[in-house]
Amino acid sequence: MKPHIKAAWLGVAASMAMAAAMADVGKDERLKLVVEPYERHLVLLEMRNFLRVWQVMTDSLIKEDMQTLADAARSMGSGAANEIPPETVAKLPETFKMLAGTVHTSFDMIALDAESLGDPGHTLRQMGVLLQTCNACHGIYQVSTETVPQLKQKSSASAKATAVKPAR
Ligand code: HEC
Repeated sequence: MKPHIKAAWLGVAASMAMAAAMADVGKDERLKLVVEPYERHLVLLEMRNFLRVWQVMTDSLIKEDMQTLADAARSMGSGAANEIPPETVAKLPETFKMLAGTVHTSFDMIALDAESLGDPGHTLRQMGVLLQTCNACHGIYQVSTETVPQLKQKSSASAKATAVKPAR
């Protein structure tokens, strides 16, 4: 995807996340991605790995140990992107896949820059931008194993239908 298109998508995702946050009064309004239990487990496992790696990165940043930081970041880069099986990926909406792709390529970029520039301030700024992508996606989606998808609901079904329809 071309960078300007990606930026536009991110803008859309961020405003959706903001709208979701404002509507969030005791009710989970995030789009429900309906998957099998093992798929939910794999998605959440990857998420916890993001957070685990994030902790190594902040620790390394304090020590200005940019090589350890780069190694940690790279472990969540594009090389880690295929840990979710293709049949699961096929169920995910385009925006979700785009945001996930942005996260993986951002980890790659952070690793490269940490090695070549060795500038903790630069890395910290990149990490801040990356967190915006984490937050954007968290504001939009939830993963569910509910067998009856929200397609059954009459109102506001159109937005939710796109989330459960296999993306082709
Ligand atoms: C493409 C979308 C997307 C991106 C990008 C994303 N997440 Fe998530 N994350 C989710 C979804 C969906 C859930 C499950 C939310 C739910 O069902 O309530 C989740 C859950 C989590 C959880 C909870 C895991 C658990 O076991 O319950 C953590 C921690 C997490 N994400 C961390 C991160 C971090 C850190 C980043 C950025 C580096 C990130 N996520 C980026 C979609 C995303």
